[in-house]
Amino acid sequence: MTITKKQLQESVDFLEKKGFLNPEIGIILGTGLGKLVNEIEDPITAHYNHIPFFPLATVEFHTGKLIYGTIEGKKVVVMEGRFHLYEGYDFMDITYPIRVMHQLGIKNLFVSNAAGAINLNYKKGDIMLIEDHINLQGGSPLAFKNVAEFGDRFVDMLEPYDLAMRKKIEAIAIKNNISIQKGVYASVVGPQLETKAEYRMLKIIGADAVGMSTVPEVIVANHLKLPIVAVSVLTDECDPDNLQPVNIQEIIEVAGNTEPKMILLFKELIKQL
Ligand code: HPA
Repeated sequence: MTITKKQLQESVDFLEKKGFLNPEIGIILGTGLGKLVNEIEDPITAHYNHIPFFPLATVEFHTGKLIYGTIEGKKVVVMEGRFHLYEGYDFMDITYPIRVMHQLGIKNLFVSNAAGAINLNYKKGDIMLIEDHINLQGGSPLAFKNVAEFGDRFVDMLEPYDLAMRKKIEAIAIKNNISIQKGVYASVVGPQLETKAEYRMLKIIGADAVGMSTVPEVIVANHLKLPIVAVSVLTDECDPDNLQPVNIQEIIEVAGNTEPKMILLFKELIKQL
């Protein structure tokens, strides 16, 4: 697949006509982490299915909308639900919304996800600030023919997660007595969970957490030179020697219980930008 500037402009025109004007911050909410939308003042909603060239939302626990409004006095655009490779989309599809939010004018991007803890010092219900990542999804959202129209082809990944915003999140966490972990997020395609052997491998190669999203979005944000901060809510402990059957309901529940801490971190960070 390729993306054209004309397509992108059509998506942006549609949203601007609805009132999505000059947002400063883009926010992507992960599985079980949708409640930040309740904090949006004067919301304007656009369902993904109605936005030209947006992929169609499928996963039932994602409502699939883009919401524009104000949080802590700043204009934000929030993705309630994201697109995953495991739903059958390609890398360009799942990152298209990042390009649209960038074209709308966002200056910073916040990302959240639910992830499994590979580092067994980390526990379910912990928040992990992502410092670096390992792309195990077998592809790139920058591997398309006309990528150079949108930015560099060879994007360096020296510091994919903005250091200044990471420092701010850490300070906010300390001030509010929220303990946060820091580490490396490995992205897999899914949707099947990992085998015991795969969890062992993930640990050996240096992952602290594993999930099925985020990395393509981060690569595109770096392509666009858009500063990004990302947090994982750790929903389960991936101990290969004591592996429990997957329970998606529990994953969503743990994410929901941890969500207030994530909302506080994001709201305080919005204040500081
Ligand atoms: N793997 C394991 N556990 C998880 C994942 C994953 O991709 N996402 C949330 N918990």
